[in-house]
Amino acid sequence: MSKKEVGFVTMGRVERRAEEVREIGIGLLGYAFMGKAHSNGYRKMPVFFYPPPAFPRLVAIFGRTEEAVAEAARRFGFEKYYTDWRKLIADEDVEIVDNCLPNYMHAEPCITAAEAGKNIICEKPLAATLEDAKAMYEAVEKAGVKNMTAFNYRFVPAIRLAKKLIDEGYIGKILQYRAVYLQEWIMDPNFPLVWRLRRSVSGSGALGDLGAHIIDLARFLVGDLASVCGMTETFIKERPLPGRPEERGKVDVDDVFIAMVRFKNGAIGSLEASRFCAGRKNYERIEIHGTEGSIVFNLERLNELEVYSRKDPEDRMGFRNILVTEAVHPFIDRWWPHGHIIGWEHTFVHEIHHFIDCVVNDKPVGPMAATFYDGLKCQEILSAIEESAEKGKWVEVP
Ligand SMILES: NC(=O)c1ccc[n+]([C@@H]2O[C@H](COP(=O)([O-])OP(=O)(O)OC[C@H]3O[C@@H](n4cnc5c(N)ncnc54)[C@H](OP(=O)(O)O)[C@@H]3O)[C@@H](O)[C@H]2O)c1
Repeated sequence: MSKKEVGFVTMGRVERRAEEVREIGIGLLGYAFMGKAHSNGYRKMPVFFYPPPAFPRLVAIFGRTEEAVAEAARRFGFEKYYTDWRKLIADEDVEIVDNCLPNYMHAEPCITAAEAGKNIICEKPLAATLEDAKAMYEAVEKAGVKNMTAFNYRFVPAIRLAKKLIDEGYIGKILQYRAVYLQEWIMDPNFPLVWRLRRSVSGSGALGDLGAHIIDLARFLVGDLASVCGMTETFIKERPLPGRPEERGKVDVDDVFIAMVRFKNGAIGSLEASRFCAGRKNYERIEIHGTEGSIVFNLERLNELEVYSRKDPEDRMGFRNILVTEAVHPFIDRWWPHGHIIGWEHTFVHEIHHFIDCVVNDKPVGPMAATFYDGLKCQEILSAIEESAEKGKWVEVP
């Protein structure tokens, strides 16, 4: 336990509080894209979510490349680094293990962490295979540790507003869910065979990387899926090896997937993700249509939510664009006053605050965040889509 006195400014007022707020030790696996996003989340959280449930103590960070992980430790503010993930998990100062490694490296460290009684955040998709995802879920259940699959889009204020409107019946009974997640970053045939393009490391391609997000949002906003009918395609089948461009290796994951889906509640939908959509940078767009209206979300305009109600007076019916930046919306009162916008990196601050609050105050991680159970349900759908694409027919989701 450490006592901290922190002064902070709110809307021009200076407040001083002395709080008994303890520290919580963080061990982070991975220091690159997500490692940086999560580190930023731990550092920002207590500044904005004050007083925090606990002050994150950045105990240790892991990576295989010593020079790079040492540099990341200095840059992100970790006390030490390890090049052996088992040592990080065994470190007695680490209470939360946060796994930001490539997908095939999710299972073993998470299961080891659960067995050591550590609380766990794991990046999405939960695993590279359904078998691994099941083992991970069983391990956290058996150990009774808090667990979260880091589906950060559940923490976008506009997505939370969409959920609230749906739960309140604003768009009536949901009929259709339509979601696309489109990128363009591997269109160049000379782009190397990075880990995301190798099945043994990533599990699948656009499906598990991007599709996992829109599948999780489908479950969060609409409900469980009943069956899927999918197709996948790989446009460029061989690529230069990283660092050895004269040699080429096989791309054994999908570049794009498209699936029709049926929900258990009777709604139907379509899902699509691709890394071959010229001009699309990080374009995640969701449309939900109900008997009484529609909701549209676009990640590239994440502060906004478009809504349409059939109950509006006839002479002013039309889509309304709500700027979801007022203090009445989730998380916004912690940021800036008077409609100042927030960005993508804020979602990580929100999910980290939520998880630490759940650990410290023994609150349930779901249903507002995704647990390992949700990660497993998503993995079952990823698997069902692959099976359907392979067999060319509809497949039931367990
Ligand atoms: N929530 C989101 O929006 C989001 C966005 C992007 C990624 N993700 C997920 O986050 C996880 C990590 O992705 P990332 O984009 O952060 O990956 P990345 O930038 O490639 O970083 C991978 C990290 O893992 C380490 N590593 C250990 N074994 C590795 C291996 N066999 N191959 C490559 N790196 C290895 C790397 O350091 P060393 O090479 O030194 O070991 C590096 O620190 C994935 O599960 C991904 O799906 C989530």
